[in-house]
Amino acid sequence: MEMQMELQPQPHVLLLPFPAQGHIKPMLALAQLLCHAGIHVTFLNTEHNHRQLTQRQALSTRFPTLHFHSISDGLPSDHPRSISPNLMDIVTSLRSKTAPLLHQLLVSLMSKNDVGSAAQLPPLGCVITDGIMCFAIEVAEEVGIPVIALRTTSACSFWCYSCIPKLIEEAQLPFGDHDMDKIVSGIPGMECLLRRRDLPSICGVPTDHPVIQFFIEETRAITRASSLILNTFDDLESSVLSHIASRFSKIYTIGPLHALLNSRVVDDNLSSSSSAAASLRQEDRGCMMWLDSRRVGSVIFVSFGSLVKLTRVQLLEFWHGLVNSGSPFLWVIRSDVLWGDEGEQASHVTPAELEMGTKERGFIVDWAPQEEVLAHEAVGGFLTHSGWNSTLEAIWAGVPMLCWPQLADQQVNSRWVGEVWKIGVDMKDTCDRSTVEKMIKALMKGEDKEVISRSVDHFAKLARTSVSKSGSSYLNLEKFIQDLRNL
Ligand code: UDX
Repeated sequence: MEMQMELQPQPHVLLLPFPAQGHIKPMLALAQLLCHAGIHVTFLNTEHNHRQLTQRQALSTRFPTLHFHSISDGLPSDHPRSISPNLMDIVTSLRSKTAPLLHQLLVSLMSKNDVGSAAQLPPLGCVITDGIMCFAIEVAEEVGIPVIALRTTSACSFWCYSCIPKLIEEAQLPFGDHDMDKIVSGIPGMECLLRRRDLPSICGVPTDHPVIQFFIEETRAITRASSLILNTFDDLESSVLSHIASRFSKIYTIGPLHALLNSRVVDDNLSSSSSAAASLRQEDRGCMMWLDSRRVGSVIFVSFGSLVKLTRVQLLEFWHGLVNSGSPFLWVIRSDVLWGDEGEQASHVTPAELEMGTKERGFIVDWAPQEEVLAHEAVGGFLTHSGWNSTLEAIWAGVPMLCWPQLADQQVNSRWVGEVWKIGVDMKDTCDRSTVEKMIKALMKGEDKEVISRSVDHFAKLARTSVSKSGSSYLNLEKFIQDLRNL
């Protein structure tokens, strides 16, 4: 590899993530892997997220060919920018205001050395855009530069998104009635698997709604990219990958990206793992000591990712269920987890039994070092929203999941966790305290625990194999790097 780096001039690629935590993290993992191979990377965040990414300096020092750059998202400075419920504001602004700025930036990076940094960069030769930022494909086409797309979701959910136009054509969408358990038949490869409630959350809105139209347009436009990168591994999703492959000339499955990164690049100067350096929030590491004091496999870790919001009623139901389950719990409650007004009301009083139960067995943080938490031997279960990064991190760490999906791809992921991979239980669409209690007990101590544990071990081993030296994701990344060099 080193010899190759000396002999061949290194390409310069621009990586453009969608402005959200769950998208920035895998894209930044890919950026570091490319830089590790000597490739020059311009990592383009929105100005807002650029400021939140506090480990920028450490990353640039670690990877001299990694260059951070920022671009306006076009929104007013006081805009909340939270994806739920502002997705369409963000998307509209990116398409209308950011696209022309991206055009200028690409022209500038393609024609000369760099934009304002001291480093000498070779001219830009390729763009890797997030798979839901397809305006970048159009801009890349305008300026005449190759463009590759990275879709950050699972292959199974991406395939569902791809089939939405077909479901509309077949009049399976919009749903004709309220029967959410009705089987959906129009998705090749998942014929008897998905109920309406397992489809991406946007399938529940009228088909002319801007959000569903946005996903239809993006999923159609992504096929114009010269190739597709997916953060998954072949042994996990091969049945679906064969369907997706028919729509793209090339697919690179190089996941789990966080594991590939952590296994190939280890750095003591970054806080926790290299992949956690992509965090837009401050991690509270106090929970690691608390975990140290807990029995092996006894703790249920609760985290609903970076976007999901709860009502106060839901929060309390979870809280009662957790306390009543009797298991020790570590819970990430983000400062912005409650919907609108509910989060602003200071007058909430927490019931005494919850205060007491939490003092005895619980630990609450605003943001945890999630990968490290999942890898801790005290953690025996993960109550999750089934975001794809979290799902991959749990698979890698070998932790069974209790799924409470809320939006986007999460409904599909949780169905696969429960029914296909059998590495957890799907608690979809309910979170009353008795169900939460029952499900946690079943996951941590129930009859099915053995069966689930066997599957969990099986997929954790496959994940490890995929990123090991002759594994599929390892080799696909090598191939991808070589293809970038040959562009
Ligand atoms: C959502 C989608 O559901 C996801 O599938 C899609 O690909 C991106 O948008 P999000 O809510 O951010 O994502 O969830 P997830 O994909 O699980 O990503 C959250 C990330 O934040 C994970 O990598 C997780 O390790 C990290 N995290 C979360 C922390 O580091 N600390 C925390 O306390 C909570």
